[in-house]
Formats: sequence, C-alpha cells, structure tokens
Amino acid sequence: MENFEQELQNRRTFAIISHPDAGKTTLTEQLLLHGGVIREAGTVKGRGAKKMASSDWMAIEQQRGISVTSSVLQFDYEGKRINILDTPGHEDFSEDTYRTLMAVDSVVMVVDAAKGIEPQTKKLFEIVSKRGIPVFTFFNKIDRDARSPLDLVDELESILGIQAYPMNWPIGSGQILQGIYDLKQKELIPFKNAADHPEVRQEGLDEVELLEDAGNQFDEKAVATGKLTPVFFGSALANFGVTEFLREYLTYAPMPAPVTTVDDQVIEPDNPEFTGFVFKIQANMDPRHRDRIAFVRIVSGAFERGMDVTLERTGKKLRLANVTQFMAEERENVQGAVPGDIIGVYDTGNFQIGDTIFSGKKAVRFPDLPTFTPEYFNKVIAKDVMKQKSYHKGITQLVQEGTIQLYKSWNSSEYILGAVGQLQFEVFKFRMENEYNVEIQFEPIGSKVARWIDPDQVDEKMASSRNLLVKDRYDRPVFLFENNFALNWFKDKYPDVQLEAKM
Ligand code: G4P
Repeated sequence: MENFEQELQNRRTFAIISHPDAGKTTLTEQLLLHGGVIREAGTVKGRGAKKMASSDWMAIEQQRGISVTSSVLQFDYEGKRINILDTPGHEDFSEDTYRTLMAVDSVVMVVDAAKGIEPQTKKLFEIVSKRGIPVFTFFNKIDRDARSPLDLVDELESILGIQAYPMNWPIGSGQILQGIYDLKQKELIPFKNAADHPEVRQEGLDEVELLEDAGNQFDEKAVATGKLTPVFFGSALANFGVTEFLREYLTYAPMPAPVTTVDDQVIEPDNPEFTGFVFKIQANMDPRHRDRIAFVRIVSGAFERGMDVTLERTGKKLRLANVTQFMAEERENVQGAVPGDIIGVYDTGNFQIGDTIFSGKKAVRFPDLPTFTPEYFNKVIAKDVMKQKSYHKGITQLVQEGTIQLYKSWNSSEYILGAVGQLQFEVFKFRMENEYNVEIQFEPIGSKVARWIDPDQVDEKMASSRNLLVKDRYDRPVFLFENNFALNWFKDKYPDVQLEAKM
C-alpha cells in the first residue's frame, strides 16, 4: 500500500463510554459534522432504534439483515482518520460492548455535568482502566444547570480513581453560562449569546487561578498510560467546546499500539505481515442466511481485499474477499485498511471471539479476550425433549462464539446462562430457534453477583439458597450470590476463602 506509514500515523481509534442519555449520540453527531460526513445533527442512524424495547430491535435487525452501519464510523478531520467504535448501551448492552473496548487505542468518556459519574460509565471505565489506555473526559450539557466543576473533577478521582487535568473550565452553567476558559491558550471562549454576569465570570476566573496554582501537573506519559485524564467541558447539543475538545484529543490520542502475543512477541503496527484479532461476531438475524460478520481489529500490516490469511486456532487458510469496510460516507476507490482500522469479514462459521488471523508464515496468536462477570442469570431448558442433540449443539456453539456464558449446577446437569445484559438472552433464544430449530424456555433466577472460588477451597456446605454453587464451562467452581449483602456475609463467615470477580 502506498503511504502505509503515513496512513498508520494518522489513525485514531476510540470508543465513547457513557451512561445512557449523557450525550454519546449527540457528541458523535457533532464529530461527524466536524468531519463533514453529515450536514445536520439528528441524522445518525440507530438513534431512534436505541430507545425501543429490545424485541422491537430484534424485529428491525431481522428486516435489515446484518446491521453493521453504525458499529464503526470512520471520518477524516484535519489530516487524521478517525474510527469511532460503537459501544451500545440501554437494552442492547452486552459483552460485545465490553469486548469492543479491547479493540480501541483510547476512550472518550462522556459524563452529564448535572449528574456526574453514573453506574454504566463506572462499569465501562473499570474495563478500560485495566488496559491502561488513555481516557479523555468530556463533561457535557453545561448549557444546562450543572454541578460545580470542582465537584465533578473530584468525582473522577474519588469514584474512578483517575487523576484529572482540566484542559478548560466552565464559567457558569445553564442560563448564566459565560463560556469556557481555555487553560492552555489562557483565554475565555464566550458562549454565544451569553447574558453578561460579571460576578459569575469573576467567580469562575478565581477558580481558574486556584487551579493554575494548585492543580495536577500535565503529564503526557500519565495520559498515555491512562493514569491522568484530560478533562473538557462543553455542550454537544450546542456544539460548544466540541472543536476545542477534538483538537486536543487529536493532539494527545495515540496512534495504533503494538500488541504482545501469547509468546511475548511484540507485534508492532508497522510490521509488514498482516495480523488482526476478532473482537465481536454479529450474527445475521435473517434466518435465510446463516452467515455472520466477524469484526477484526487490524494490529499490523496492510489489509488488501482478496488477501490470504491463516486462522491461528485451526490452521485453516482463508481468503479475505468478502469484507465490509466501515466508512461514514461513500468513498470511491477504497484502498484497503491499516492498523487501527476495523474490517467486517463475512463468516460462515469459522471464527470465534478472540481468534487471531495472520498473513505471514510464522503463526501469531494474540491473547484471549477477557471474559466478563455476568450479572443476569437464567436456567434454560429445551421445550421439546426430543431435540436434545440440537439443543446441546446450539448451546455449545453459541457459547463458544461468545454470545452468552454457560454454567452448570454443581450436582445436576442443569444449564444456567449468564450475561452482562438482558438482550444477550433474547439473541440466544432467537438464534437457537432460527439456527438450530430448538425452542427453549428460560427460568429466571434473577441478578446475581458471580465470584470464582479457589477449587481447593470449595466445600459444598458453603452453598445455600443465597449463594448457589455452580461450575463454569471449564468446570471451575463459581458462587452466585444473591446480592452484595450475601457476598459480604459470606466473606465474614469464611475470611480465608479466596473469591475472584473474573477468571
Ligand atoms: P446517549 O446517546 O448518550 O444516550 O444520549 P443522546 O446523545 O441521545 O442525548 C440524550 C438527550 O440529551 C437528548 O435529548 C439530547 O438532545 C440531549 N443532549 C445531549 N447533549 C446535550 C447538551 O449538551 N445539552 C443539552 N441541553 N442536552 C443535550 P432528547 O433527544 O430530547 O432525548 P429525550 O429527551 O427524548 O430522551
């Protein structure tokens, strides 16, 4: 590929993490407007769909076939090519949402400035923070009454445990919003049509002075390792502070990072051999087509349509001919793709989540993607006992694919399914019916707190109705606690027992 090195340097791949309604869609739209991809706000697809019940969502997916349009959005801005990976929230929250965070090089955290850090943001942040990648914080909706910026910044440190460095500072909010003070340029950017409130302005500028005297040092290294988050204030809806945010984001966000293989080999993005890993598989909801799309994050080398690769897990050779590339606008002459980019490979059942593909002679294997602690559990049974064979086959395949997590009760062969979001159950049921022709029934056992226990320490007598003892699909013992209270009670009773949230 021509200009490979430059293309690579220009890539910025990120996801937005936020609690529903904080303004992720609105900010995404503003970014697309900046990239010249759309001309007016309110046009991003899927916005309406997001608010529907999950069953409506399923019906829509069914009509559309594979819906991948808004999974990855690519656009250009000031010489950079930006990939935004969607992290669905609301009812469609699932392990895919978490796994997508394994495929980005940085994260933008959007927080409602009236509400502060909310639960879903905290969960997503915890996943991201384990990876040690840069996090940029955008406190949104300052055109409405917001909480004190000092309080908000303090929450980043106290609730999330990340140091904060304000890049700008809001002067007032809501009706009395005067503007934002840019701490780098040392100037006030006035909010359009702001009513003049000298006392608000003075108070804000006093705060700025305090910050300048006493705040954290800006430390690029700490940003790069996710220990310090640059903080921005603005209003996505009013397109205020967004340009400033994007400019600074592009200054400090990293280009595609190298990835270390299971045998400790560091694969640099400019390695000439193509490598990539599957972080998400989306099933075709159209029962007439069994195919699926495997989302591959490119780690090294250039992708060219029709190239041959090897699937590491099976050793199988594949030709990457039927591939979707993700662009927010129609572009002629799609050249191929480079590290940081995502390609969607049509798949007839070869891929599993976490699979590595490579073009060279030497096999490359990236580490497995982590599994995430599920919160919702259902017992599952086949309605028709005559269909046990398809039932087991379907469960095995869908679990391998990463659709849902499987547990078994300790002393019987009952299956229990676990998920991080309710939609995963619906997708599972739908696919069992459509792809394996098995009707299933769920028996909810509610939300649980799952903790893995050291196999040497497990004792059936520790189990009760408030903490069920089950096995995961590798036969490792897991306690499903009724709630945190039951978990704490257990910890008090058995202080020496090692419990772990994830394995
Ligand atoms: P999400 O994707 O994070 O879930 O949030 P989304 O962008 O859809 O925004 C949620 C609501 O908040 C929307 O209102 C949106 O217009 C509003 N919003 C987003 N950014 C800002 C901002 O900077 N200032 C103000 N004042 N509002 C903002 P909506 O479409 O009316 O949604 P709804 O009220 O119908 O739920």
